[in-house]
Amino acid sequence: MSPEQINRRFLLRRRPSGDFDPSVLELVREPLPSPGPDQALVRVKYLSLDPSNRIWMGEGESYIPPVPLDGVMRGAGIGQVVASNNRKFPVGSKVIGLLGWQDYALIGTGEEFPSQRLPALLPVPLPSLLGAMGFTGMTAYFGMLDIGRPRRGETVVVSAAGAVGSIAGQIAKIRGARVVGIAGSREKCEWLLRELGFDAAVNRRDPDWRAQLASACPNGVDVDFENVGGEIMEAVFELLNHHARVVLCGMIAGYGEDGTARGPRNFSILLMRRIRLQSLIVLDYQRRFTLAGMHLAWWMRRGKLKDQQTVVQGLERAPAALVGMFKGENTGKLLVELG
Ligand SMILES: NC(=O)c1ccc[n+]([C@@H]2O[C@H](COP(=O)([O-])OP(=O)(O)OC[C@H]3O[C@@H](n4cnc5c(N)ncnc54)[C@H](OP(=O)(O)O)[C@@H]3O)[C@@H](O)[C@H]2O)c1
Repeated sequence: MSPEQINRRFLLRRRPSGDFDPSVLELVREPLPSPGPDQALVRVKYLSLDPSNRIWMGEGESYIPPVPLDGVMRGAGIGQVVASNNRKFPVGSKVIGLLGWQDYALIGTGEEFPSQRLPALLPVPLPSLLGAMGFTGMTAYFGMLDIGRPRRGETVVVSAAGAVGSIAGQIAKIRGARVVGIAGSREKCEWLLRELGFDAAVNRRDPDWRAQLASACPNGVDVDFENVGGEIMEAVFELLNHHARVVLCGMIAGYGEDGTARGPRNFSILLMRRIRLQSLIVLDYQRRFTLAGMHLAWWMRRGKLKDQQTVVQGLERAPAALVGMFKGENTGKLLVELG
């Protein structure tokens, strides 16, 4: 079979225990499927890598069922229709959806979440539709504006200030807040400060990161946009002001523990200081995506919102890239570009 007739797919063979282990995935080569009635065949162009990929591999409590064993690894992607029996998806049209870790995906029927056709004229480059204008940007937008609601002059802390966090921090800046980011390297802290206009940045790998965080927040913290959990969340909790808001967006430090990670030891601070904590799952906001997308695109066009991506070449590199994400090797949104 020629390469054009082969579909490479990553299948989940085992459930990981602990941190993500690439050996739970197997790259298989299968004949290219033909679209059935009402189906279209999509050539995947970009694949989004997300911390939630690890959650979806396990059987801990989640907002979506785990990837079935021997099923194709779940992942959001963008692609182009190459064969079609579905008038909604003509050949040549671009689509976005949970296309999976594979070269080609069948869409139109039997999908967990229906794929959507993209407009012919796009307001931003394709990768941004998985970044600042995709689930990543939507998470930042609704988390910061619906839950965090920063006011002018307030202090906002964003932990794991990467894909979601870098957008969340910039939105807080647009709202007039003072923004402090936490990241895992000196280079990323420089990027937050120089490129994105954060007011302060703390390197979580510095031995004195707690002291750095406290001195970066002389007036306490009014909004904690929480992406990490664990000791970082505990350190931010110590600094929370009365009536602060905690946006519980993610707890990446505990994803290797399948939902059994311990909560913060200083949780009672929330009671004593009258603090509101609210989580979000971005899928719940889908009906408002169009309006949010208009805002995000407007900010991007005016240069108020910058979208950074780390793009890895080749489907076969996806597992190693996901390992790298849990080591903090990506800056901004991590994508895989397929051949
Ligand atoms: N609630 C929702 O609907 C929703 C949607 C999307 C994402 N999220 C959550 O948002 C968070 C960020 O996701 P993202 O897509 O923006 O990821 P990301 O920034 O692309 O990558 C995750 C970053 O987290 C940091 N990190 C990794 N392991 C860590 C650990 N053990 N302790 C502290 N930091 C660690 C690393 O950066 P550094 O090394 O620079 O710290 C890494 O680059 C995640 O918790 C994710 O689950 C939630």
